Amino acid sequence: MAMRKNESKAPFPQGIDEEKFDKLSQLAEMGKLLAETAHELSQPLAGIKAFTQMLRKRYDDDDFLGPKLRLIEKQARHMEAILDSVKTYSHGLRTVTESCAPREVIESAMLLLRNKATKARVEMELRVPAELPTVEIPEHKLQQVLLNLMNNAIEAMKGSEGSKLVVEASESGKDFRLAVADTGPGIPGEVANRVFEPFFTTKKDGSGLGLAICKRIARQAGGDLRLLGQGECSSRFGERFRTALELSLPLERDAS
Ligand SMILES: Nc1ncnc2c1ncn2[C@@H]1O[C@H](COP(=O)(O)OP(=O)(O)O)[C@@H](O)[C@H]1O
Ligand SMILES: [Mg+2]
Repeated sequence: MAMRKNESKAPFPQGIDEEKFDKLSQLAEMGKLLAETAHELSQPLAGIKAFTQMLRKRYDDDDFLGPKLRLIEKQARHMEAILDSVKTYSHGLRTVTESCAPREVIESAMLLLRNKATKARVEMELRVPAELPTVEIPEHKLQQVLLNLMNNAIEAMKGSEGSKLVVEASESGKDFRLAVADTGPGIPGEVANRVFEPFFTTKKDGSGLGLAICKRIARQAGGDLRLLGQGECSSRFGERFRTALELSLPLERDAS
């Protein structure tokens, strides 16, 4: 069977292309701005409401002032409710600003999967330089991506002799790179083109969501996740390695 080369097809959920993705990113930025504006506006509004209440209590019986002050107070409460709902809504759109030290995440992921790897007769190897930069992604998200990649690798190699999984971290220009490579059967071209699709799985009990979620996490953090071509994979990790996925993340921005 002729295998297609890994075309790097836009790995977004169905119906979303790069252009739409950029639009969504802009919307997320606007959401953040909106949340900040809502927060800024609630301060002066609280002042307006407090003083109106004070005046209303004093002039409640005044035929002229009473009704007007009650109305101002009501309008202020209404504005408060609007701002609250904006704050709640845009909370989920907040962009990532947390960062973490990747070495600890890598070591804990290896510890978490040690039993599973031993049972599957998979040897794990760490290729990580002594010094690693801080990366802009929340620790639990980096762990989630790494565990997914390592789990997939172990599952692909289950039971075969001399199986090996390599976790490699490196720094390249403005990026931090984290790759997980394995000596499993590899991914045929027609499967390779679909691995990032939500619900795409070749496993009997798979969810097909692992890599789709990992890709989204990577993109949300301003990075990406890609499947290396088989040639690239073997020349980089050794000829027995047929599959490698690589996460790239921006290095922590200078505090400004
Ligand atoms: N290391 C790997 N080796 C071989 N195939 C893989 C590997 N990682 C992912 N795949 C393929 O990608 C598919 C999608 O993976 P994923 O999104 O994690 O979902 P799931 O693991 O539930 O199937 C898998 O079903 C498998 O066919
Ligand atoms: Mg999986």
